[in-house]
Amino acid sequence: MSIDSRIPGFYKRSLDERRCEIAGRRGLSTDTVEAAFEKGLTPQMADKVIENVIGVYALPVGVGLNLRLNDRDYLVPMVVEEPSVVAAMSNAARMVREGGGFYGEADDPITTAQIQLWDVADPKAAAEAVTAASAELLAGANAAFPDIVKFGGGAREIETFDRGEGCFVVHLHVDVRDAMGANMVNTMAEALAPRVAELAKGRVGLRILTNLADRRCVRVRCSAPAEALATEGITGEAVRDRIVDASRFAERDPYRATTHNKGIMNGIDPVVLATGNDWRAVEAGAHAYASKSGVYRPLATWRSGPSGALEGRIELPLALGIVGGTIKVHPGARTALELLDVKTARELALVAAATGLASNLAALRALATVGIQKGHMTLHARSVAATAGATAEEIDRVVKAIVDAKQITLEAARKALETLRR
Ligand code: MEV
Repeated sequence: MSIDSRIPGFYKRSLDERRCEIAGRRGLSTDTVEAAFEKGLTPQMADKVIENVIGVYALPVGVGLNLRLNDRDYLVPMVVEEPSVVAAMSNAARMVREGGGFYGEADDPITTAQIQLWDVADPKAAAEAVTAASAELLAGANAAFPDIVKFGGGAREIETFDRGEGCFVVHLHVDVRDAMGANMVNTMAEALAPRVAELAKGRVGLRILTNLADRRCVRVRCSAPAEALATEGITGEAVRDRIVDASRFAERDPYRATTHNKGIMNGIDPVVLATGNDWRAVEAGAHAYASKSGVYRPLATWRSGPSGALEGRIELPLALGIVGGTIKVHPGARTALELLDVKTARELALVAAATGLASNLAALRALATVGIQKGHMTLHARSVAATAGATAEEIDRVVKAIVDAKQITLEAARKALETLRR
């Protein structure tokens, strides 16, 4: 079902109104959304997920708006504790929307397992023997996890690497379809290891997936018209050029590239978390990929395009699933996926990458103009005003009063509210 992800004034509405609006747009009942995000994962369910459970730990769920990707709108559930991330991403996605939105493509969902051996005396002969037995090994891998073949996936390719001093590694590339695939490829690797050791004449070491999922990359690009970037007395063209300078800084300096990439992960991780995916795997893969040239580099870069628009690109590995694991048990993850309405794991990866690119744009635009603190302080003021008891109608005026007075405290917000009500 196609929806419109543009909802002006959404942030001003009450929590109940927001839930109702989002559920309605997606054709879900408000009760479903409430049950998923109000009650969510119960301690009893959590007790079945990990060990030594003593409860559950809640984080805010927001909805990122305005995201248009490959000519489709998405409401993006984001689980994150940092103020301004959701608002900033939505704001940047609105600017990109004016240039037509995000476009991208994702590799086949290939997750790779490593079967590592020691004591391989003749790595060349080992590589030849393993490669010659590829068909047998792929069939063996599929026999260890036959369900994936029914879904159109399965083991696809064998690769070998000589890592020196008798350390020999076999990569098993598996099309895991809509799963993240860790369990699947680990099962396959364990099943194949004895035969691989026999072929390579070595001793079995580790058998585990690699989180450097570089066969599962996603690439997203966007173009924001310069006019859409203008802010507080700075022309759109000037903002564009400053963003390009910020990108070039990150391309030259690993200290800046790290923070630049943190701003990207501000968008990606909340989607990964909301959809019940393994964010540690995503983080490990993203940063390893950022270092693939030997120097840590930005995952997204920005340039001025031929028409004068700001053009951005991101590329990173994203091993995400829409079936299995936590997704099965966590009501929040299930509802987040329903709100997103993605049909494949590849589509989810595209949404996450676009959200990361939007977050990066928002951060660079703020940093290159007024600085990051101004927006943060206004948002912080909103949460202080809400804590002081300001209603949806009162909140803007209370925020203005405490920001203008440069006194963003609960005490000041209470006083401003009192004055307003009088
Ligand atoms: C803060 O969470 C993220 C930023 O530091 C990202 C950046 O510097 O690009 C603002």
